[in-house]
Amino acid sequence: MWVLRVCWVLLGTLAAGSAQLYFEKVRSVTLDICNTSAIIPCRVTNLILHRTNAIFVKWKLQGSEFFSYDGVENKVTRNSTFQSANLLDLSLLPNGTASLILSREEAPPGNYTCDVAESSREGDTIVELIHISTSWFQPTENSFIIATVIVAAVLYFSQSVVVAMRFDMTLSKKIGLFLAELIVIFLAVIGVILLIPAGYESSQQIGLALIVVPAFILVPILHFLFTSVFEKQPLFAIILVFLKAIGYIIAVAGFGLCVLACPPKQGSIMIAGLAIIDIVAAIGLIYLIVIGVPLVK
Ligand SMILES: *[C@@H]1O[C@H](CO)[C@@H](O)[C@H](O)[C@H]1NC(C)=O
Ligand SMILES: *[C@@H]1O[C@H](CO)[C@@H](O)[C@H](O)[C@H]1NC(C)=O
Ligand SMILES: *[C@@H]1O[C@H](CO)[C@@H](O)[C@H](O)[C@H]1NC(C)=O
Ligand SMILES: *[C@@H]1O[C@H](CO)[C@@H](O)[C@H](O)[C@H]1NC(C)=O
Repeated sequence: MWVLRVCWVLLGTLAAGSAQLYFEKVRSVTLDICNTSAIIPCRVTNLILHRTNAIFVKWKLQGSEFFSYDGVENKVTRNSTFQSANLLDLSLLPNGTASLILSREEAPPGNYTCDVAESSREGDTIVELIHISTSWFQPTENSFIIATVIVAAVLYFSQSVVVAMRFDMTLSKKIGLFLAELIVIFLAVIGVILLIPAGYESSQQIGLALIVVPAFILVPILHFLFTSVFEKQPLFAIILVFLKAIGYIIAVAGFGLCVLACPPKQGSIMIAGLAIIDIVAAIGLIYLIVIGVPLVK
C-alpha cells in the first residue's frame, strides 16, 4: 500500500510542477502592405492530453479579451469588432497550435496575448503585431519609373521645340502633336503621384496603369510625326516606330505581371519597356535634328 501512496504523492508533485504551459517564444510579427490577413503565432510546447475538448483558448489585445475558443463546447466567442478572428487551424489545436488569423482591417498593431488552458494547466504569451508601411515597388524601381517619366517629359518637350522651329508643319498639326504628348505626360505624372505613396491599394494600381497604358498614344504620334516630316518614309523611321511599339508591348506585358501581384512581379520588365520607349524617343529626336529634311510648304 505505501508504494502506491508514495507514487501518488510523486505524481501530485510532478503535476503541480508542470501546471504551467510553455510557449514557443515569438516576440513580434510584422504586417506589411502585402499581407491580406494577419497570422499571430501561438504554440504551446508542453501539452499533455492533446485533446481539443480539454483546451480553452483566449486572445486579448492590450489586455482586453476579444476572442475565445472553448474546446469543451466547441464554441467560438468574438468581440464584434473582430468578426474575422479565427483559430488558424482547429485541427492543429491538439498539437498546441492556437495561432490566430484576422483580416488585415481588423488587426490593429499592438500586444496580443494568447492564453491557453489545458484542463487545469494554463499559460500565456505575448506577441507584438507591428505594422510596416512601404511603397508597393522597391525604392530603386520607384526611382527608375520616375526617371522614365521625367526623361519622357524632357524629350517630348524638346521634340516639340525642334518641330516648331525646324519643320514647316501646319499649326494645327503642331498643336495636336504637342497636346497629345502633353496628355500622356500629364497622366503619367498623376500616375506617379498615385503610385509612390506607401501601400498597395487600388490607387497604386490605377497610378501604374496611368503611367503605362496611355503611352500607347506615343506610337501613332511618332508615326504621324515622321509622315508629317518626311515626304517618303525612310526605313529608319519605320524601324523606330516599330521599336516604339515593341517597347510599349513589353511595358504593358510587365504591367500585366505587376498589377495584381504584391510584391510586384517582374517590375524590371515593365521598366525596360518604358526605357525602350524613352530610348526610341531620344533616337527619334536626334534623328529629326540631324537627318530630318524640313518639308517646304
Ligand atoms: C505577412 O506576410 C509575410 C510573407 O508572406 C509573412 O512572413 C508574415 O508572417 C505575414 N505577417 C502576418 C502578421 O501574418
Ligand atoms: C470589443 O473591443 C473593443 C476594443 O477593444 C472594446 O472597446 C469593446 O468594449 C469590446 N466589446 C465587447 C462586447 O467586448
Ligand atoms: C502533432 O504532433 C504529433 C506528435 O508530436 C505528430 O506526430 C503529428 O505529426 C503532429 N500533427 C501535425 C498535424 O502537426
Ligand atoms: C508592446 O509591448 C512592448 C514590451 O512591453 C512595448 O515595448 C511596446 O511598446 C508595446 N506595444 C504597443 C503597441 O503597446
